[in-house]
Amino acid sequence: MNAFMHTLATPRSGINSVPRSSSARMILLLRVFAVVMLTATAILCGRPLHAEDGYELWLRYHALATEQANTYRPHASQLIVGSATPTQSVTGKELQRGLGGLLGEAPPLSNAVTRDGAIIVGTPSSSPLIAQMRLDTNSLGSEGYAIRSVVINGHTATAIVGNSDIAALYGAFHFLRLLQTEQPIDHLDLHDSPRVKLRVLVHWDNLNGSVERGYAGASMWDWFKLPDWLDPRYTDYARANASLGINGVVLNNPNADNVMLSAAYIKKAAALAGVFRPYGIHVYLSVRFSAPAEIGGLKTADPFDPQVQQWWRAKVDEIYQAIPDLGGLLVKANSEGQPGPQDYGRTHADGANMLADVLAPHGGVVMWRTFVYSPTLSDDRAKQAYAEFKPLDGHFRANVLLQVKNGPIDFQPREPFHPLFGAMPKTPLMMEFQITKEYLGFATHLVYLGPLYQEVLSTDTMVHGRNSTVAKVVDGTLEGHTLTGMAGDANIGANRNWSGSVFNQANWYVFGRLAWNPAQLSRTIADDWVRMTFTNNNAFVKPVVDMMMASREAAVDYMTPLGLHHLMGPGHHYGPAPWDASESRPDWRPVYYHRADSEGIGFDRSRSGSDAVDQYAAPIAAQFNDVEHTPEQLLLWFHHVPWDYRMRSGQTLWYELVAHYTRGVDDVKQMHETWNHLDGYIDPERYQQTASFLAIQEKEAQWWRDACIAYFQSISARPLPPGFAPPQHSLKYYESLSFPYVPGFSSW
Ligand code: GCU
Repeated sequence: MNAFMHTLATPRSGINSVPRSSSARMILLLRVFAVVMLTATAILCGRPLHAEDGYELWLRYHALATEQANTYRPHASQLIVGSATPTQSVTGKELQRGLGGLLGEAPPLSNAVTRDGAIIVGTPSSSPLIAQMRLDTNSLGSEGYAIRSVVINGHTATAIVGNSDIAALYGAFHFLRLLQTEQPIDHLDLHDSPRVKLRVLVHWDNLNGSVERGYAGASMWDWFKLPDWLDPRYTDYARANASLGINGVVLNNPNADNVMLSAAYIKKAAALAGVFRPYGIHVYLSVRFSAPAEIGGLKTADPFDPQVQQWWRAKVDEIYQAIPDLGGLLVKANSEGQPGPQDYGRTHADGANMLADVLAPHGGVVMWRTFVYSPTLSDDRAKQAYAEFKPLDGHFRANVLLQVKNGPIDFQPREPFHPLFGAMPKTPLMMEFQITKEYLGFATHLVYLGPLYQEVLSTDTMVHGRNSTVAKVVDGTLEGHTLTGMAGDANIGANRNWSGSVFNQANWYVFGRLAWNPAQLSRTIADDWVRMTFTNNNAFVKPVVDMMMASREAAVDYMTPLGLHHLMGPGHHYGPAPWDASESRPDWRPVYYHRADSEGIGFDRSRSGSDAVDQYAAPIAAQFNDVEHTPEQLLLWFHHVPWDYRMRSGQTLWYELVAHYTRGVDDVKQMHETWNHLDGYIDPERYQQTASFLAIQEKEAQWWRDACIAYFQSISARPLPPGFAPPQHSLKYYESLSFPYVPGFSSW
């Protein structure tokens, strides 16, 4: 809102009161005139009347340029869509809303094709018109759709067809995306089906309203007012997810609270499930393994105890009574202090199978996390999940998926792929990505995660020779699994812009698109997102997509280049603290990971070190074991390397380390510079916020570089290579900084 609008808006109550004097009447007239003028200007400029706050996400159906809209209007003359089911109704509403916004007027709803340009949406069984088209829909499966330009009853039309209402809804969103991104729609013949079955957002939301690792405000779920008050935001959230094909939502933190299993909270969850159902979204709950002993009045939670099994059976039946289409349960067990089957001498498989057995009659699944590292330390935290789970391959029930983080440590700016991918052929492995940027600059840093996700998914595990990519493990094609999944730890909160920054929305978006099809390119997805979120003006789109694509590598460079990892501040993970050794566990301390000493730096995971390399298939293990062949971007992940080691550039490792840190800062400066040239292409609100956040990122990138160089120099005892600026402050200064109340950490 600009200052002028503000002065108009502030005395609003005065407008409602009856003016007595003629001067008051004059003021009123002037105000009315000003409002009319503003409205007219805004309409003529195609600008929204309200401030852009990012609430609309990528479903921003603002009027297209007249010329573009004119090319579409002949193909949107009528809308023929059912309303017999809730999903059909929301499909029709979305199309009316989208087309109405984009084209200025929604096509009239109709039952019959009476002219050229109808849009006909539905399934062969719900729509006689679609049945009449006799399209072959077999290959679409239950969630896939086709969008075809057809001739029906002598008229041209566009058919959006699926085998289920949900599939047709997905098709409708795709059709709207074509218009939002200004694609031609006159000769359409496209089809698409998801390659992954469970496409799930996981909310690390606590029932007290805080969000673990959340940087977008409090939890969106207003538990206290549920089930009676259904915030309209829940519907918009469901629309956004459905537009990407996300079909599952875990409502609560895997560090679960037993209150979630109380009758009152099951009711609240059921109310949310009711909002999400028309959009094809299933609710899942995180549960605490010890619940039978903690709230069930039993002496144990041993999965082999018949009373424990009975307790879970009754509880699961109770939940399904309230939520008949519950997706299933998510469990974090024997991990970071959480209870689990090992507390009773049982295995992860014993625990997961017990829950799987009670869920099976309802069609539910167990998503069991592999994020474990023993409380009694082993030699290398990176090896522990593999060590615990690999021997259990083949021991899990058919409705268990293991949820595996993308890398072996914890969502670092760069990690090698998790060695479990490809190592458990008999078990469906579900990818777990983090969308919230716990280790990548929280809400303010512009880091597009598409390249990170794509890098992991496209990596070759080599377990069955070439082209055994992680994506093929995840989509099930490598081992023939049909139960497949991808989970994303959400970055969504109660902030008006949902994700803490407009650019963080892109990470939710790219997660959803890749969960649908892990083989898609992150650049293409970024391009769609920019067009839908901001504008189709190529003078804006191209530099912004370039900036997004470069942003992740910039963050790697200014935080943890060349395979370094976990250098973040203790606990809260904000900012650099490579010196830190304060945490209670050695493997929570940065010094554990970088192992810098007077000789060199890096974690030796080769055969002469922890031998983590041998958890990978032979060709990959051989590559990672050999310092000369390890990709330099993972060098210090796998090797302890002398400071004067010659890198491929011919420079020393010390030189390259300083150069990478410096390049990271330069790249952020470049991003900031790029953005400075884009003023005027988009609304001032989102432009300004991004500009301010880039300024924060630039400042913090400099801080990261300087603090890390100051610290590593104190250990390498080498002079700064010529041409590089010294850190702005002393090491002591950086070490002295402390950060109380960091978001996402201190509140839970
Ligand atoms: C990380 C993160 C925790 C989270 C955990 C998990 O360790 O810092 O906040 O609970 O991952 O994924 O369970």
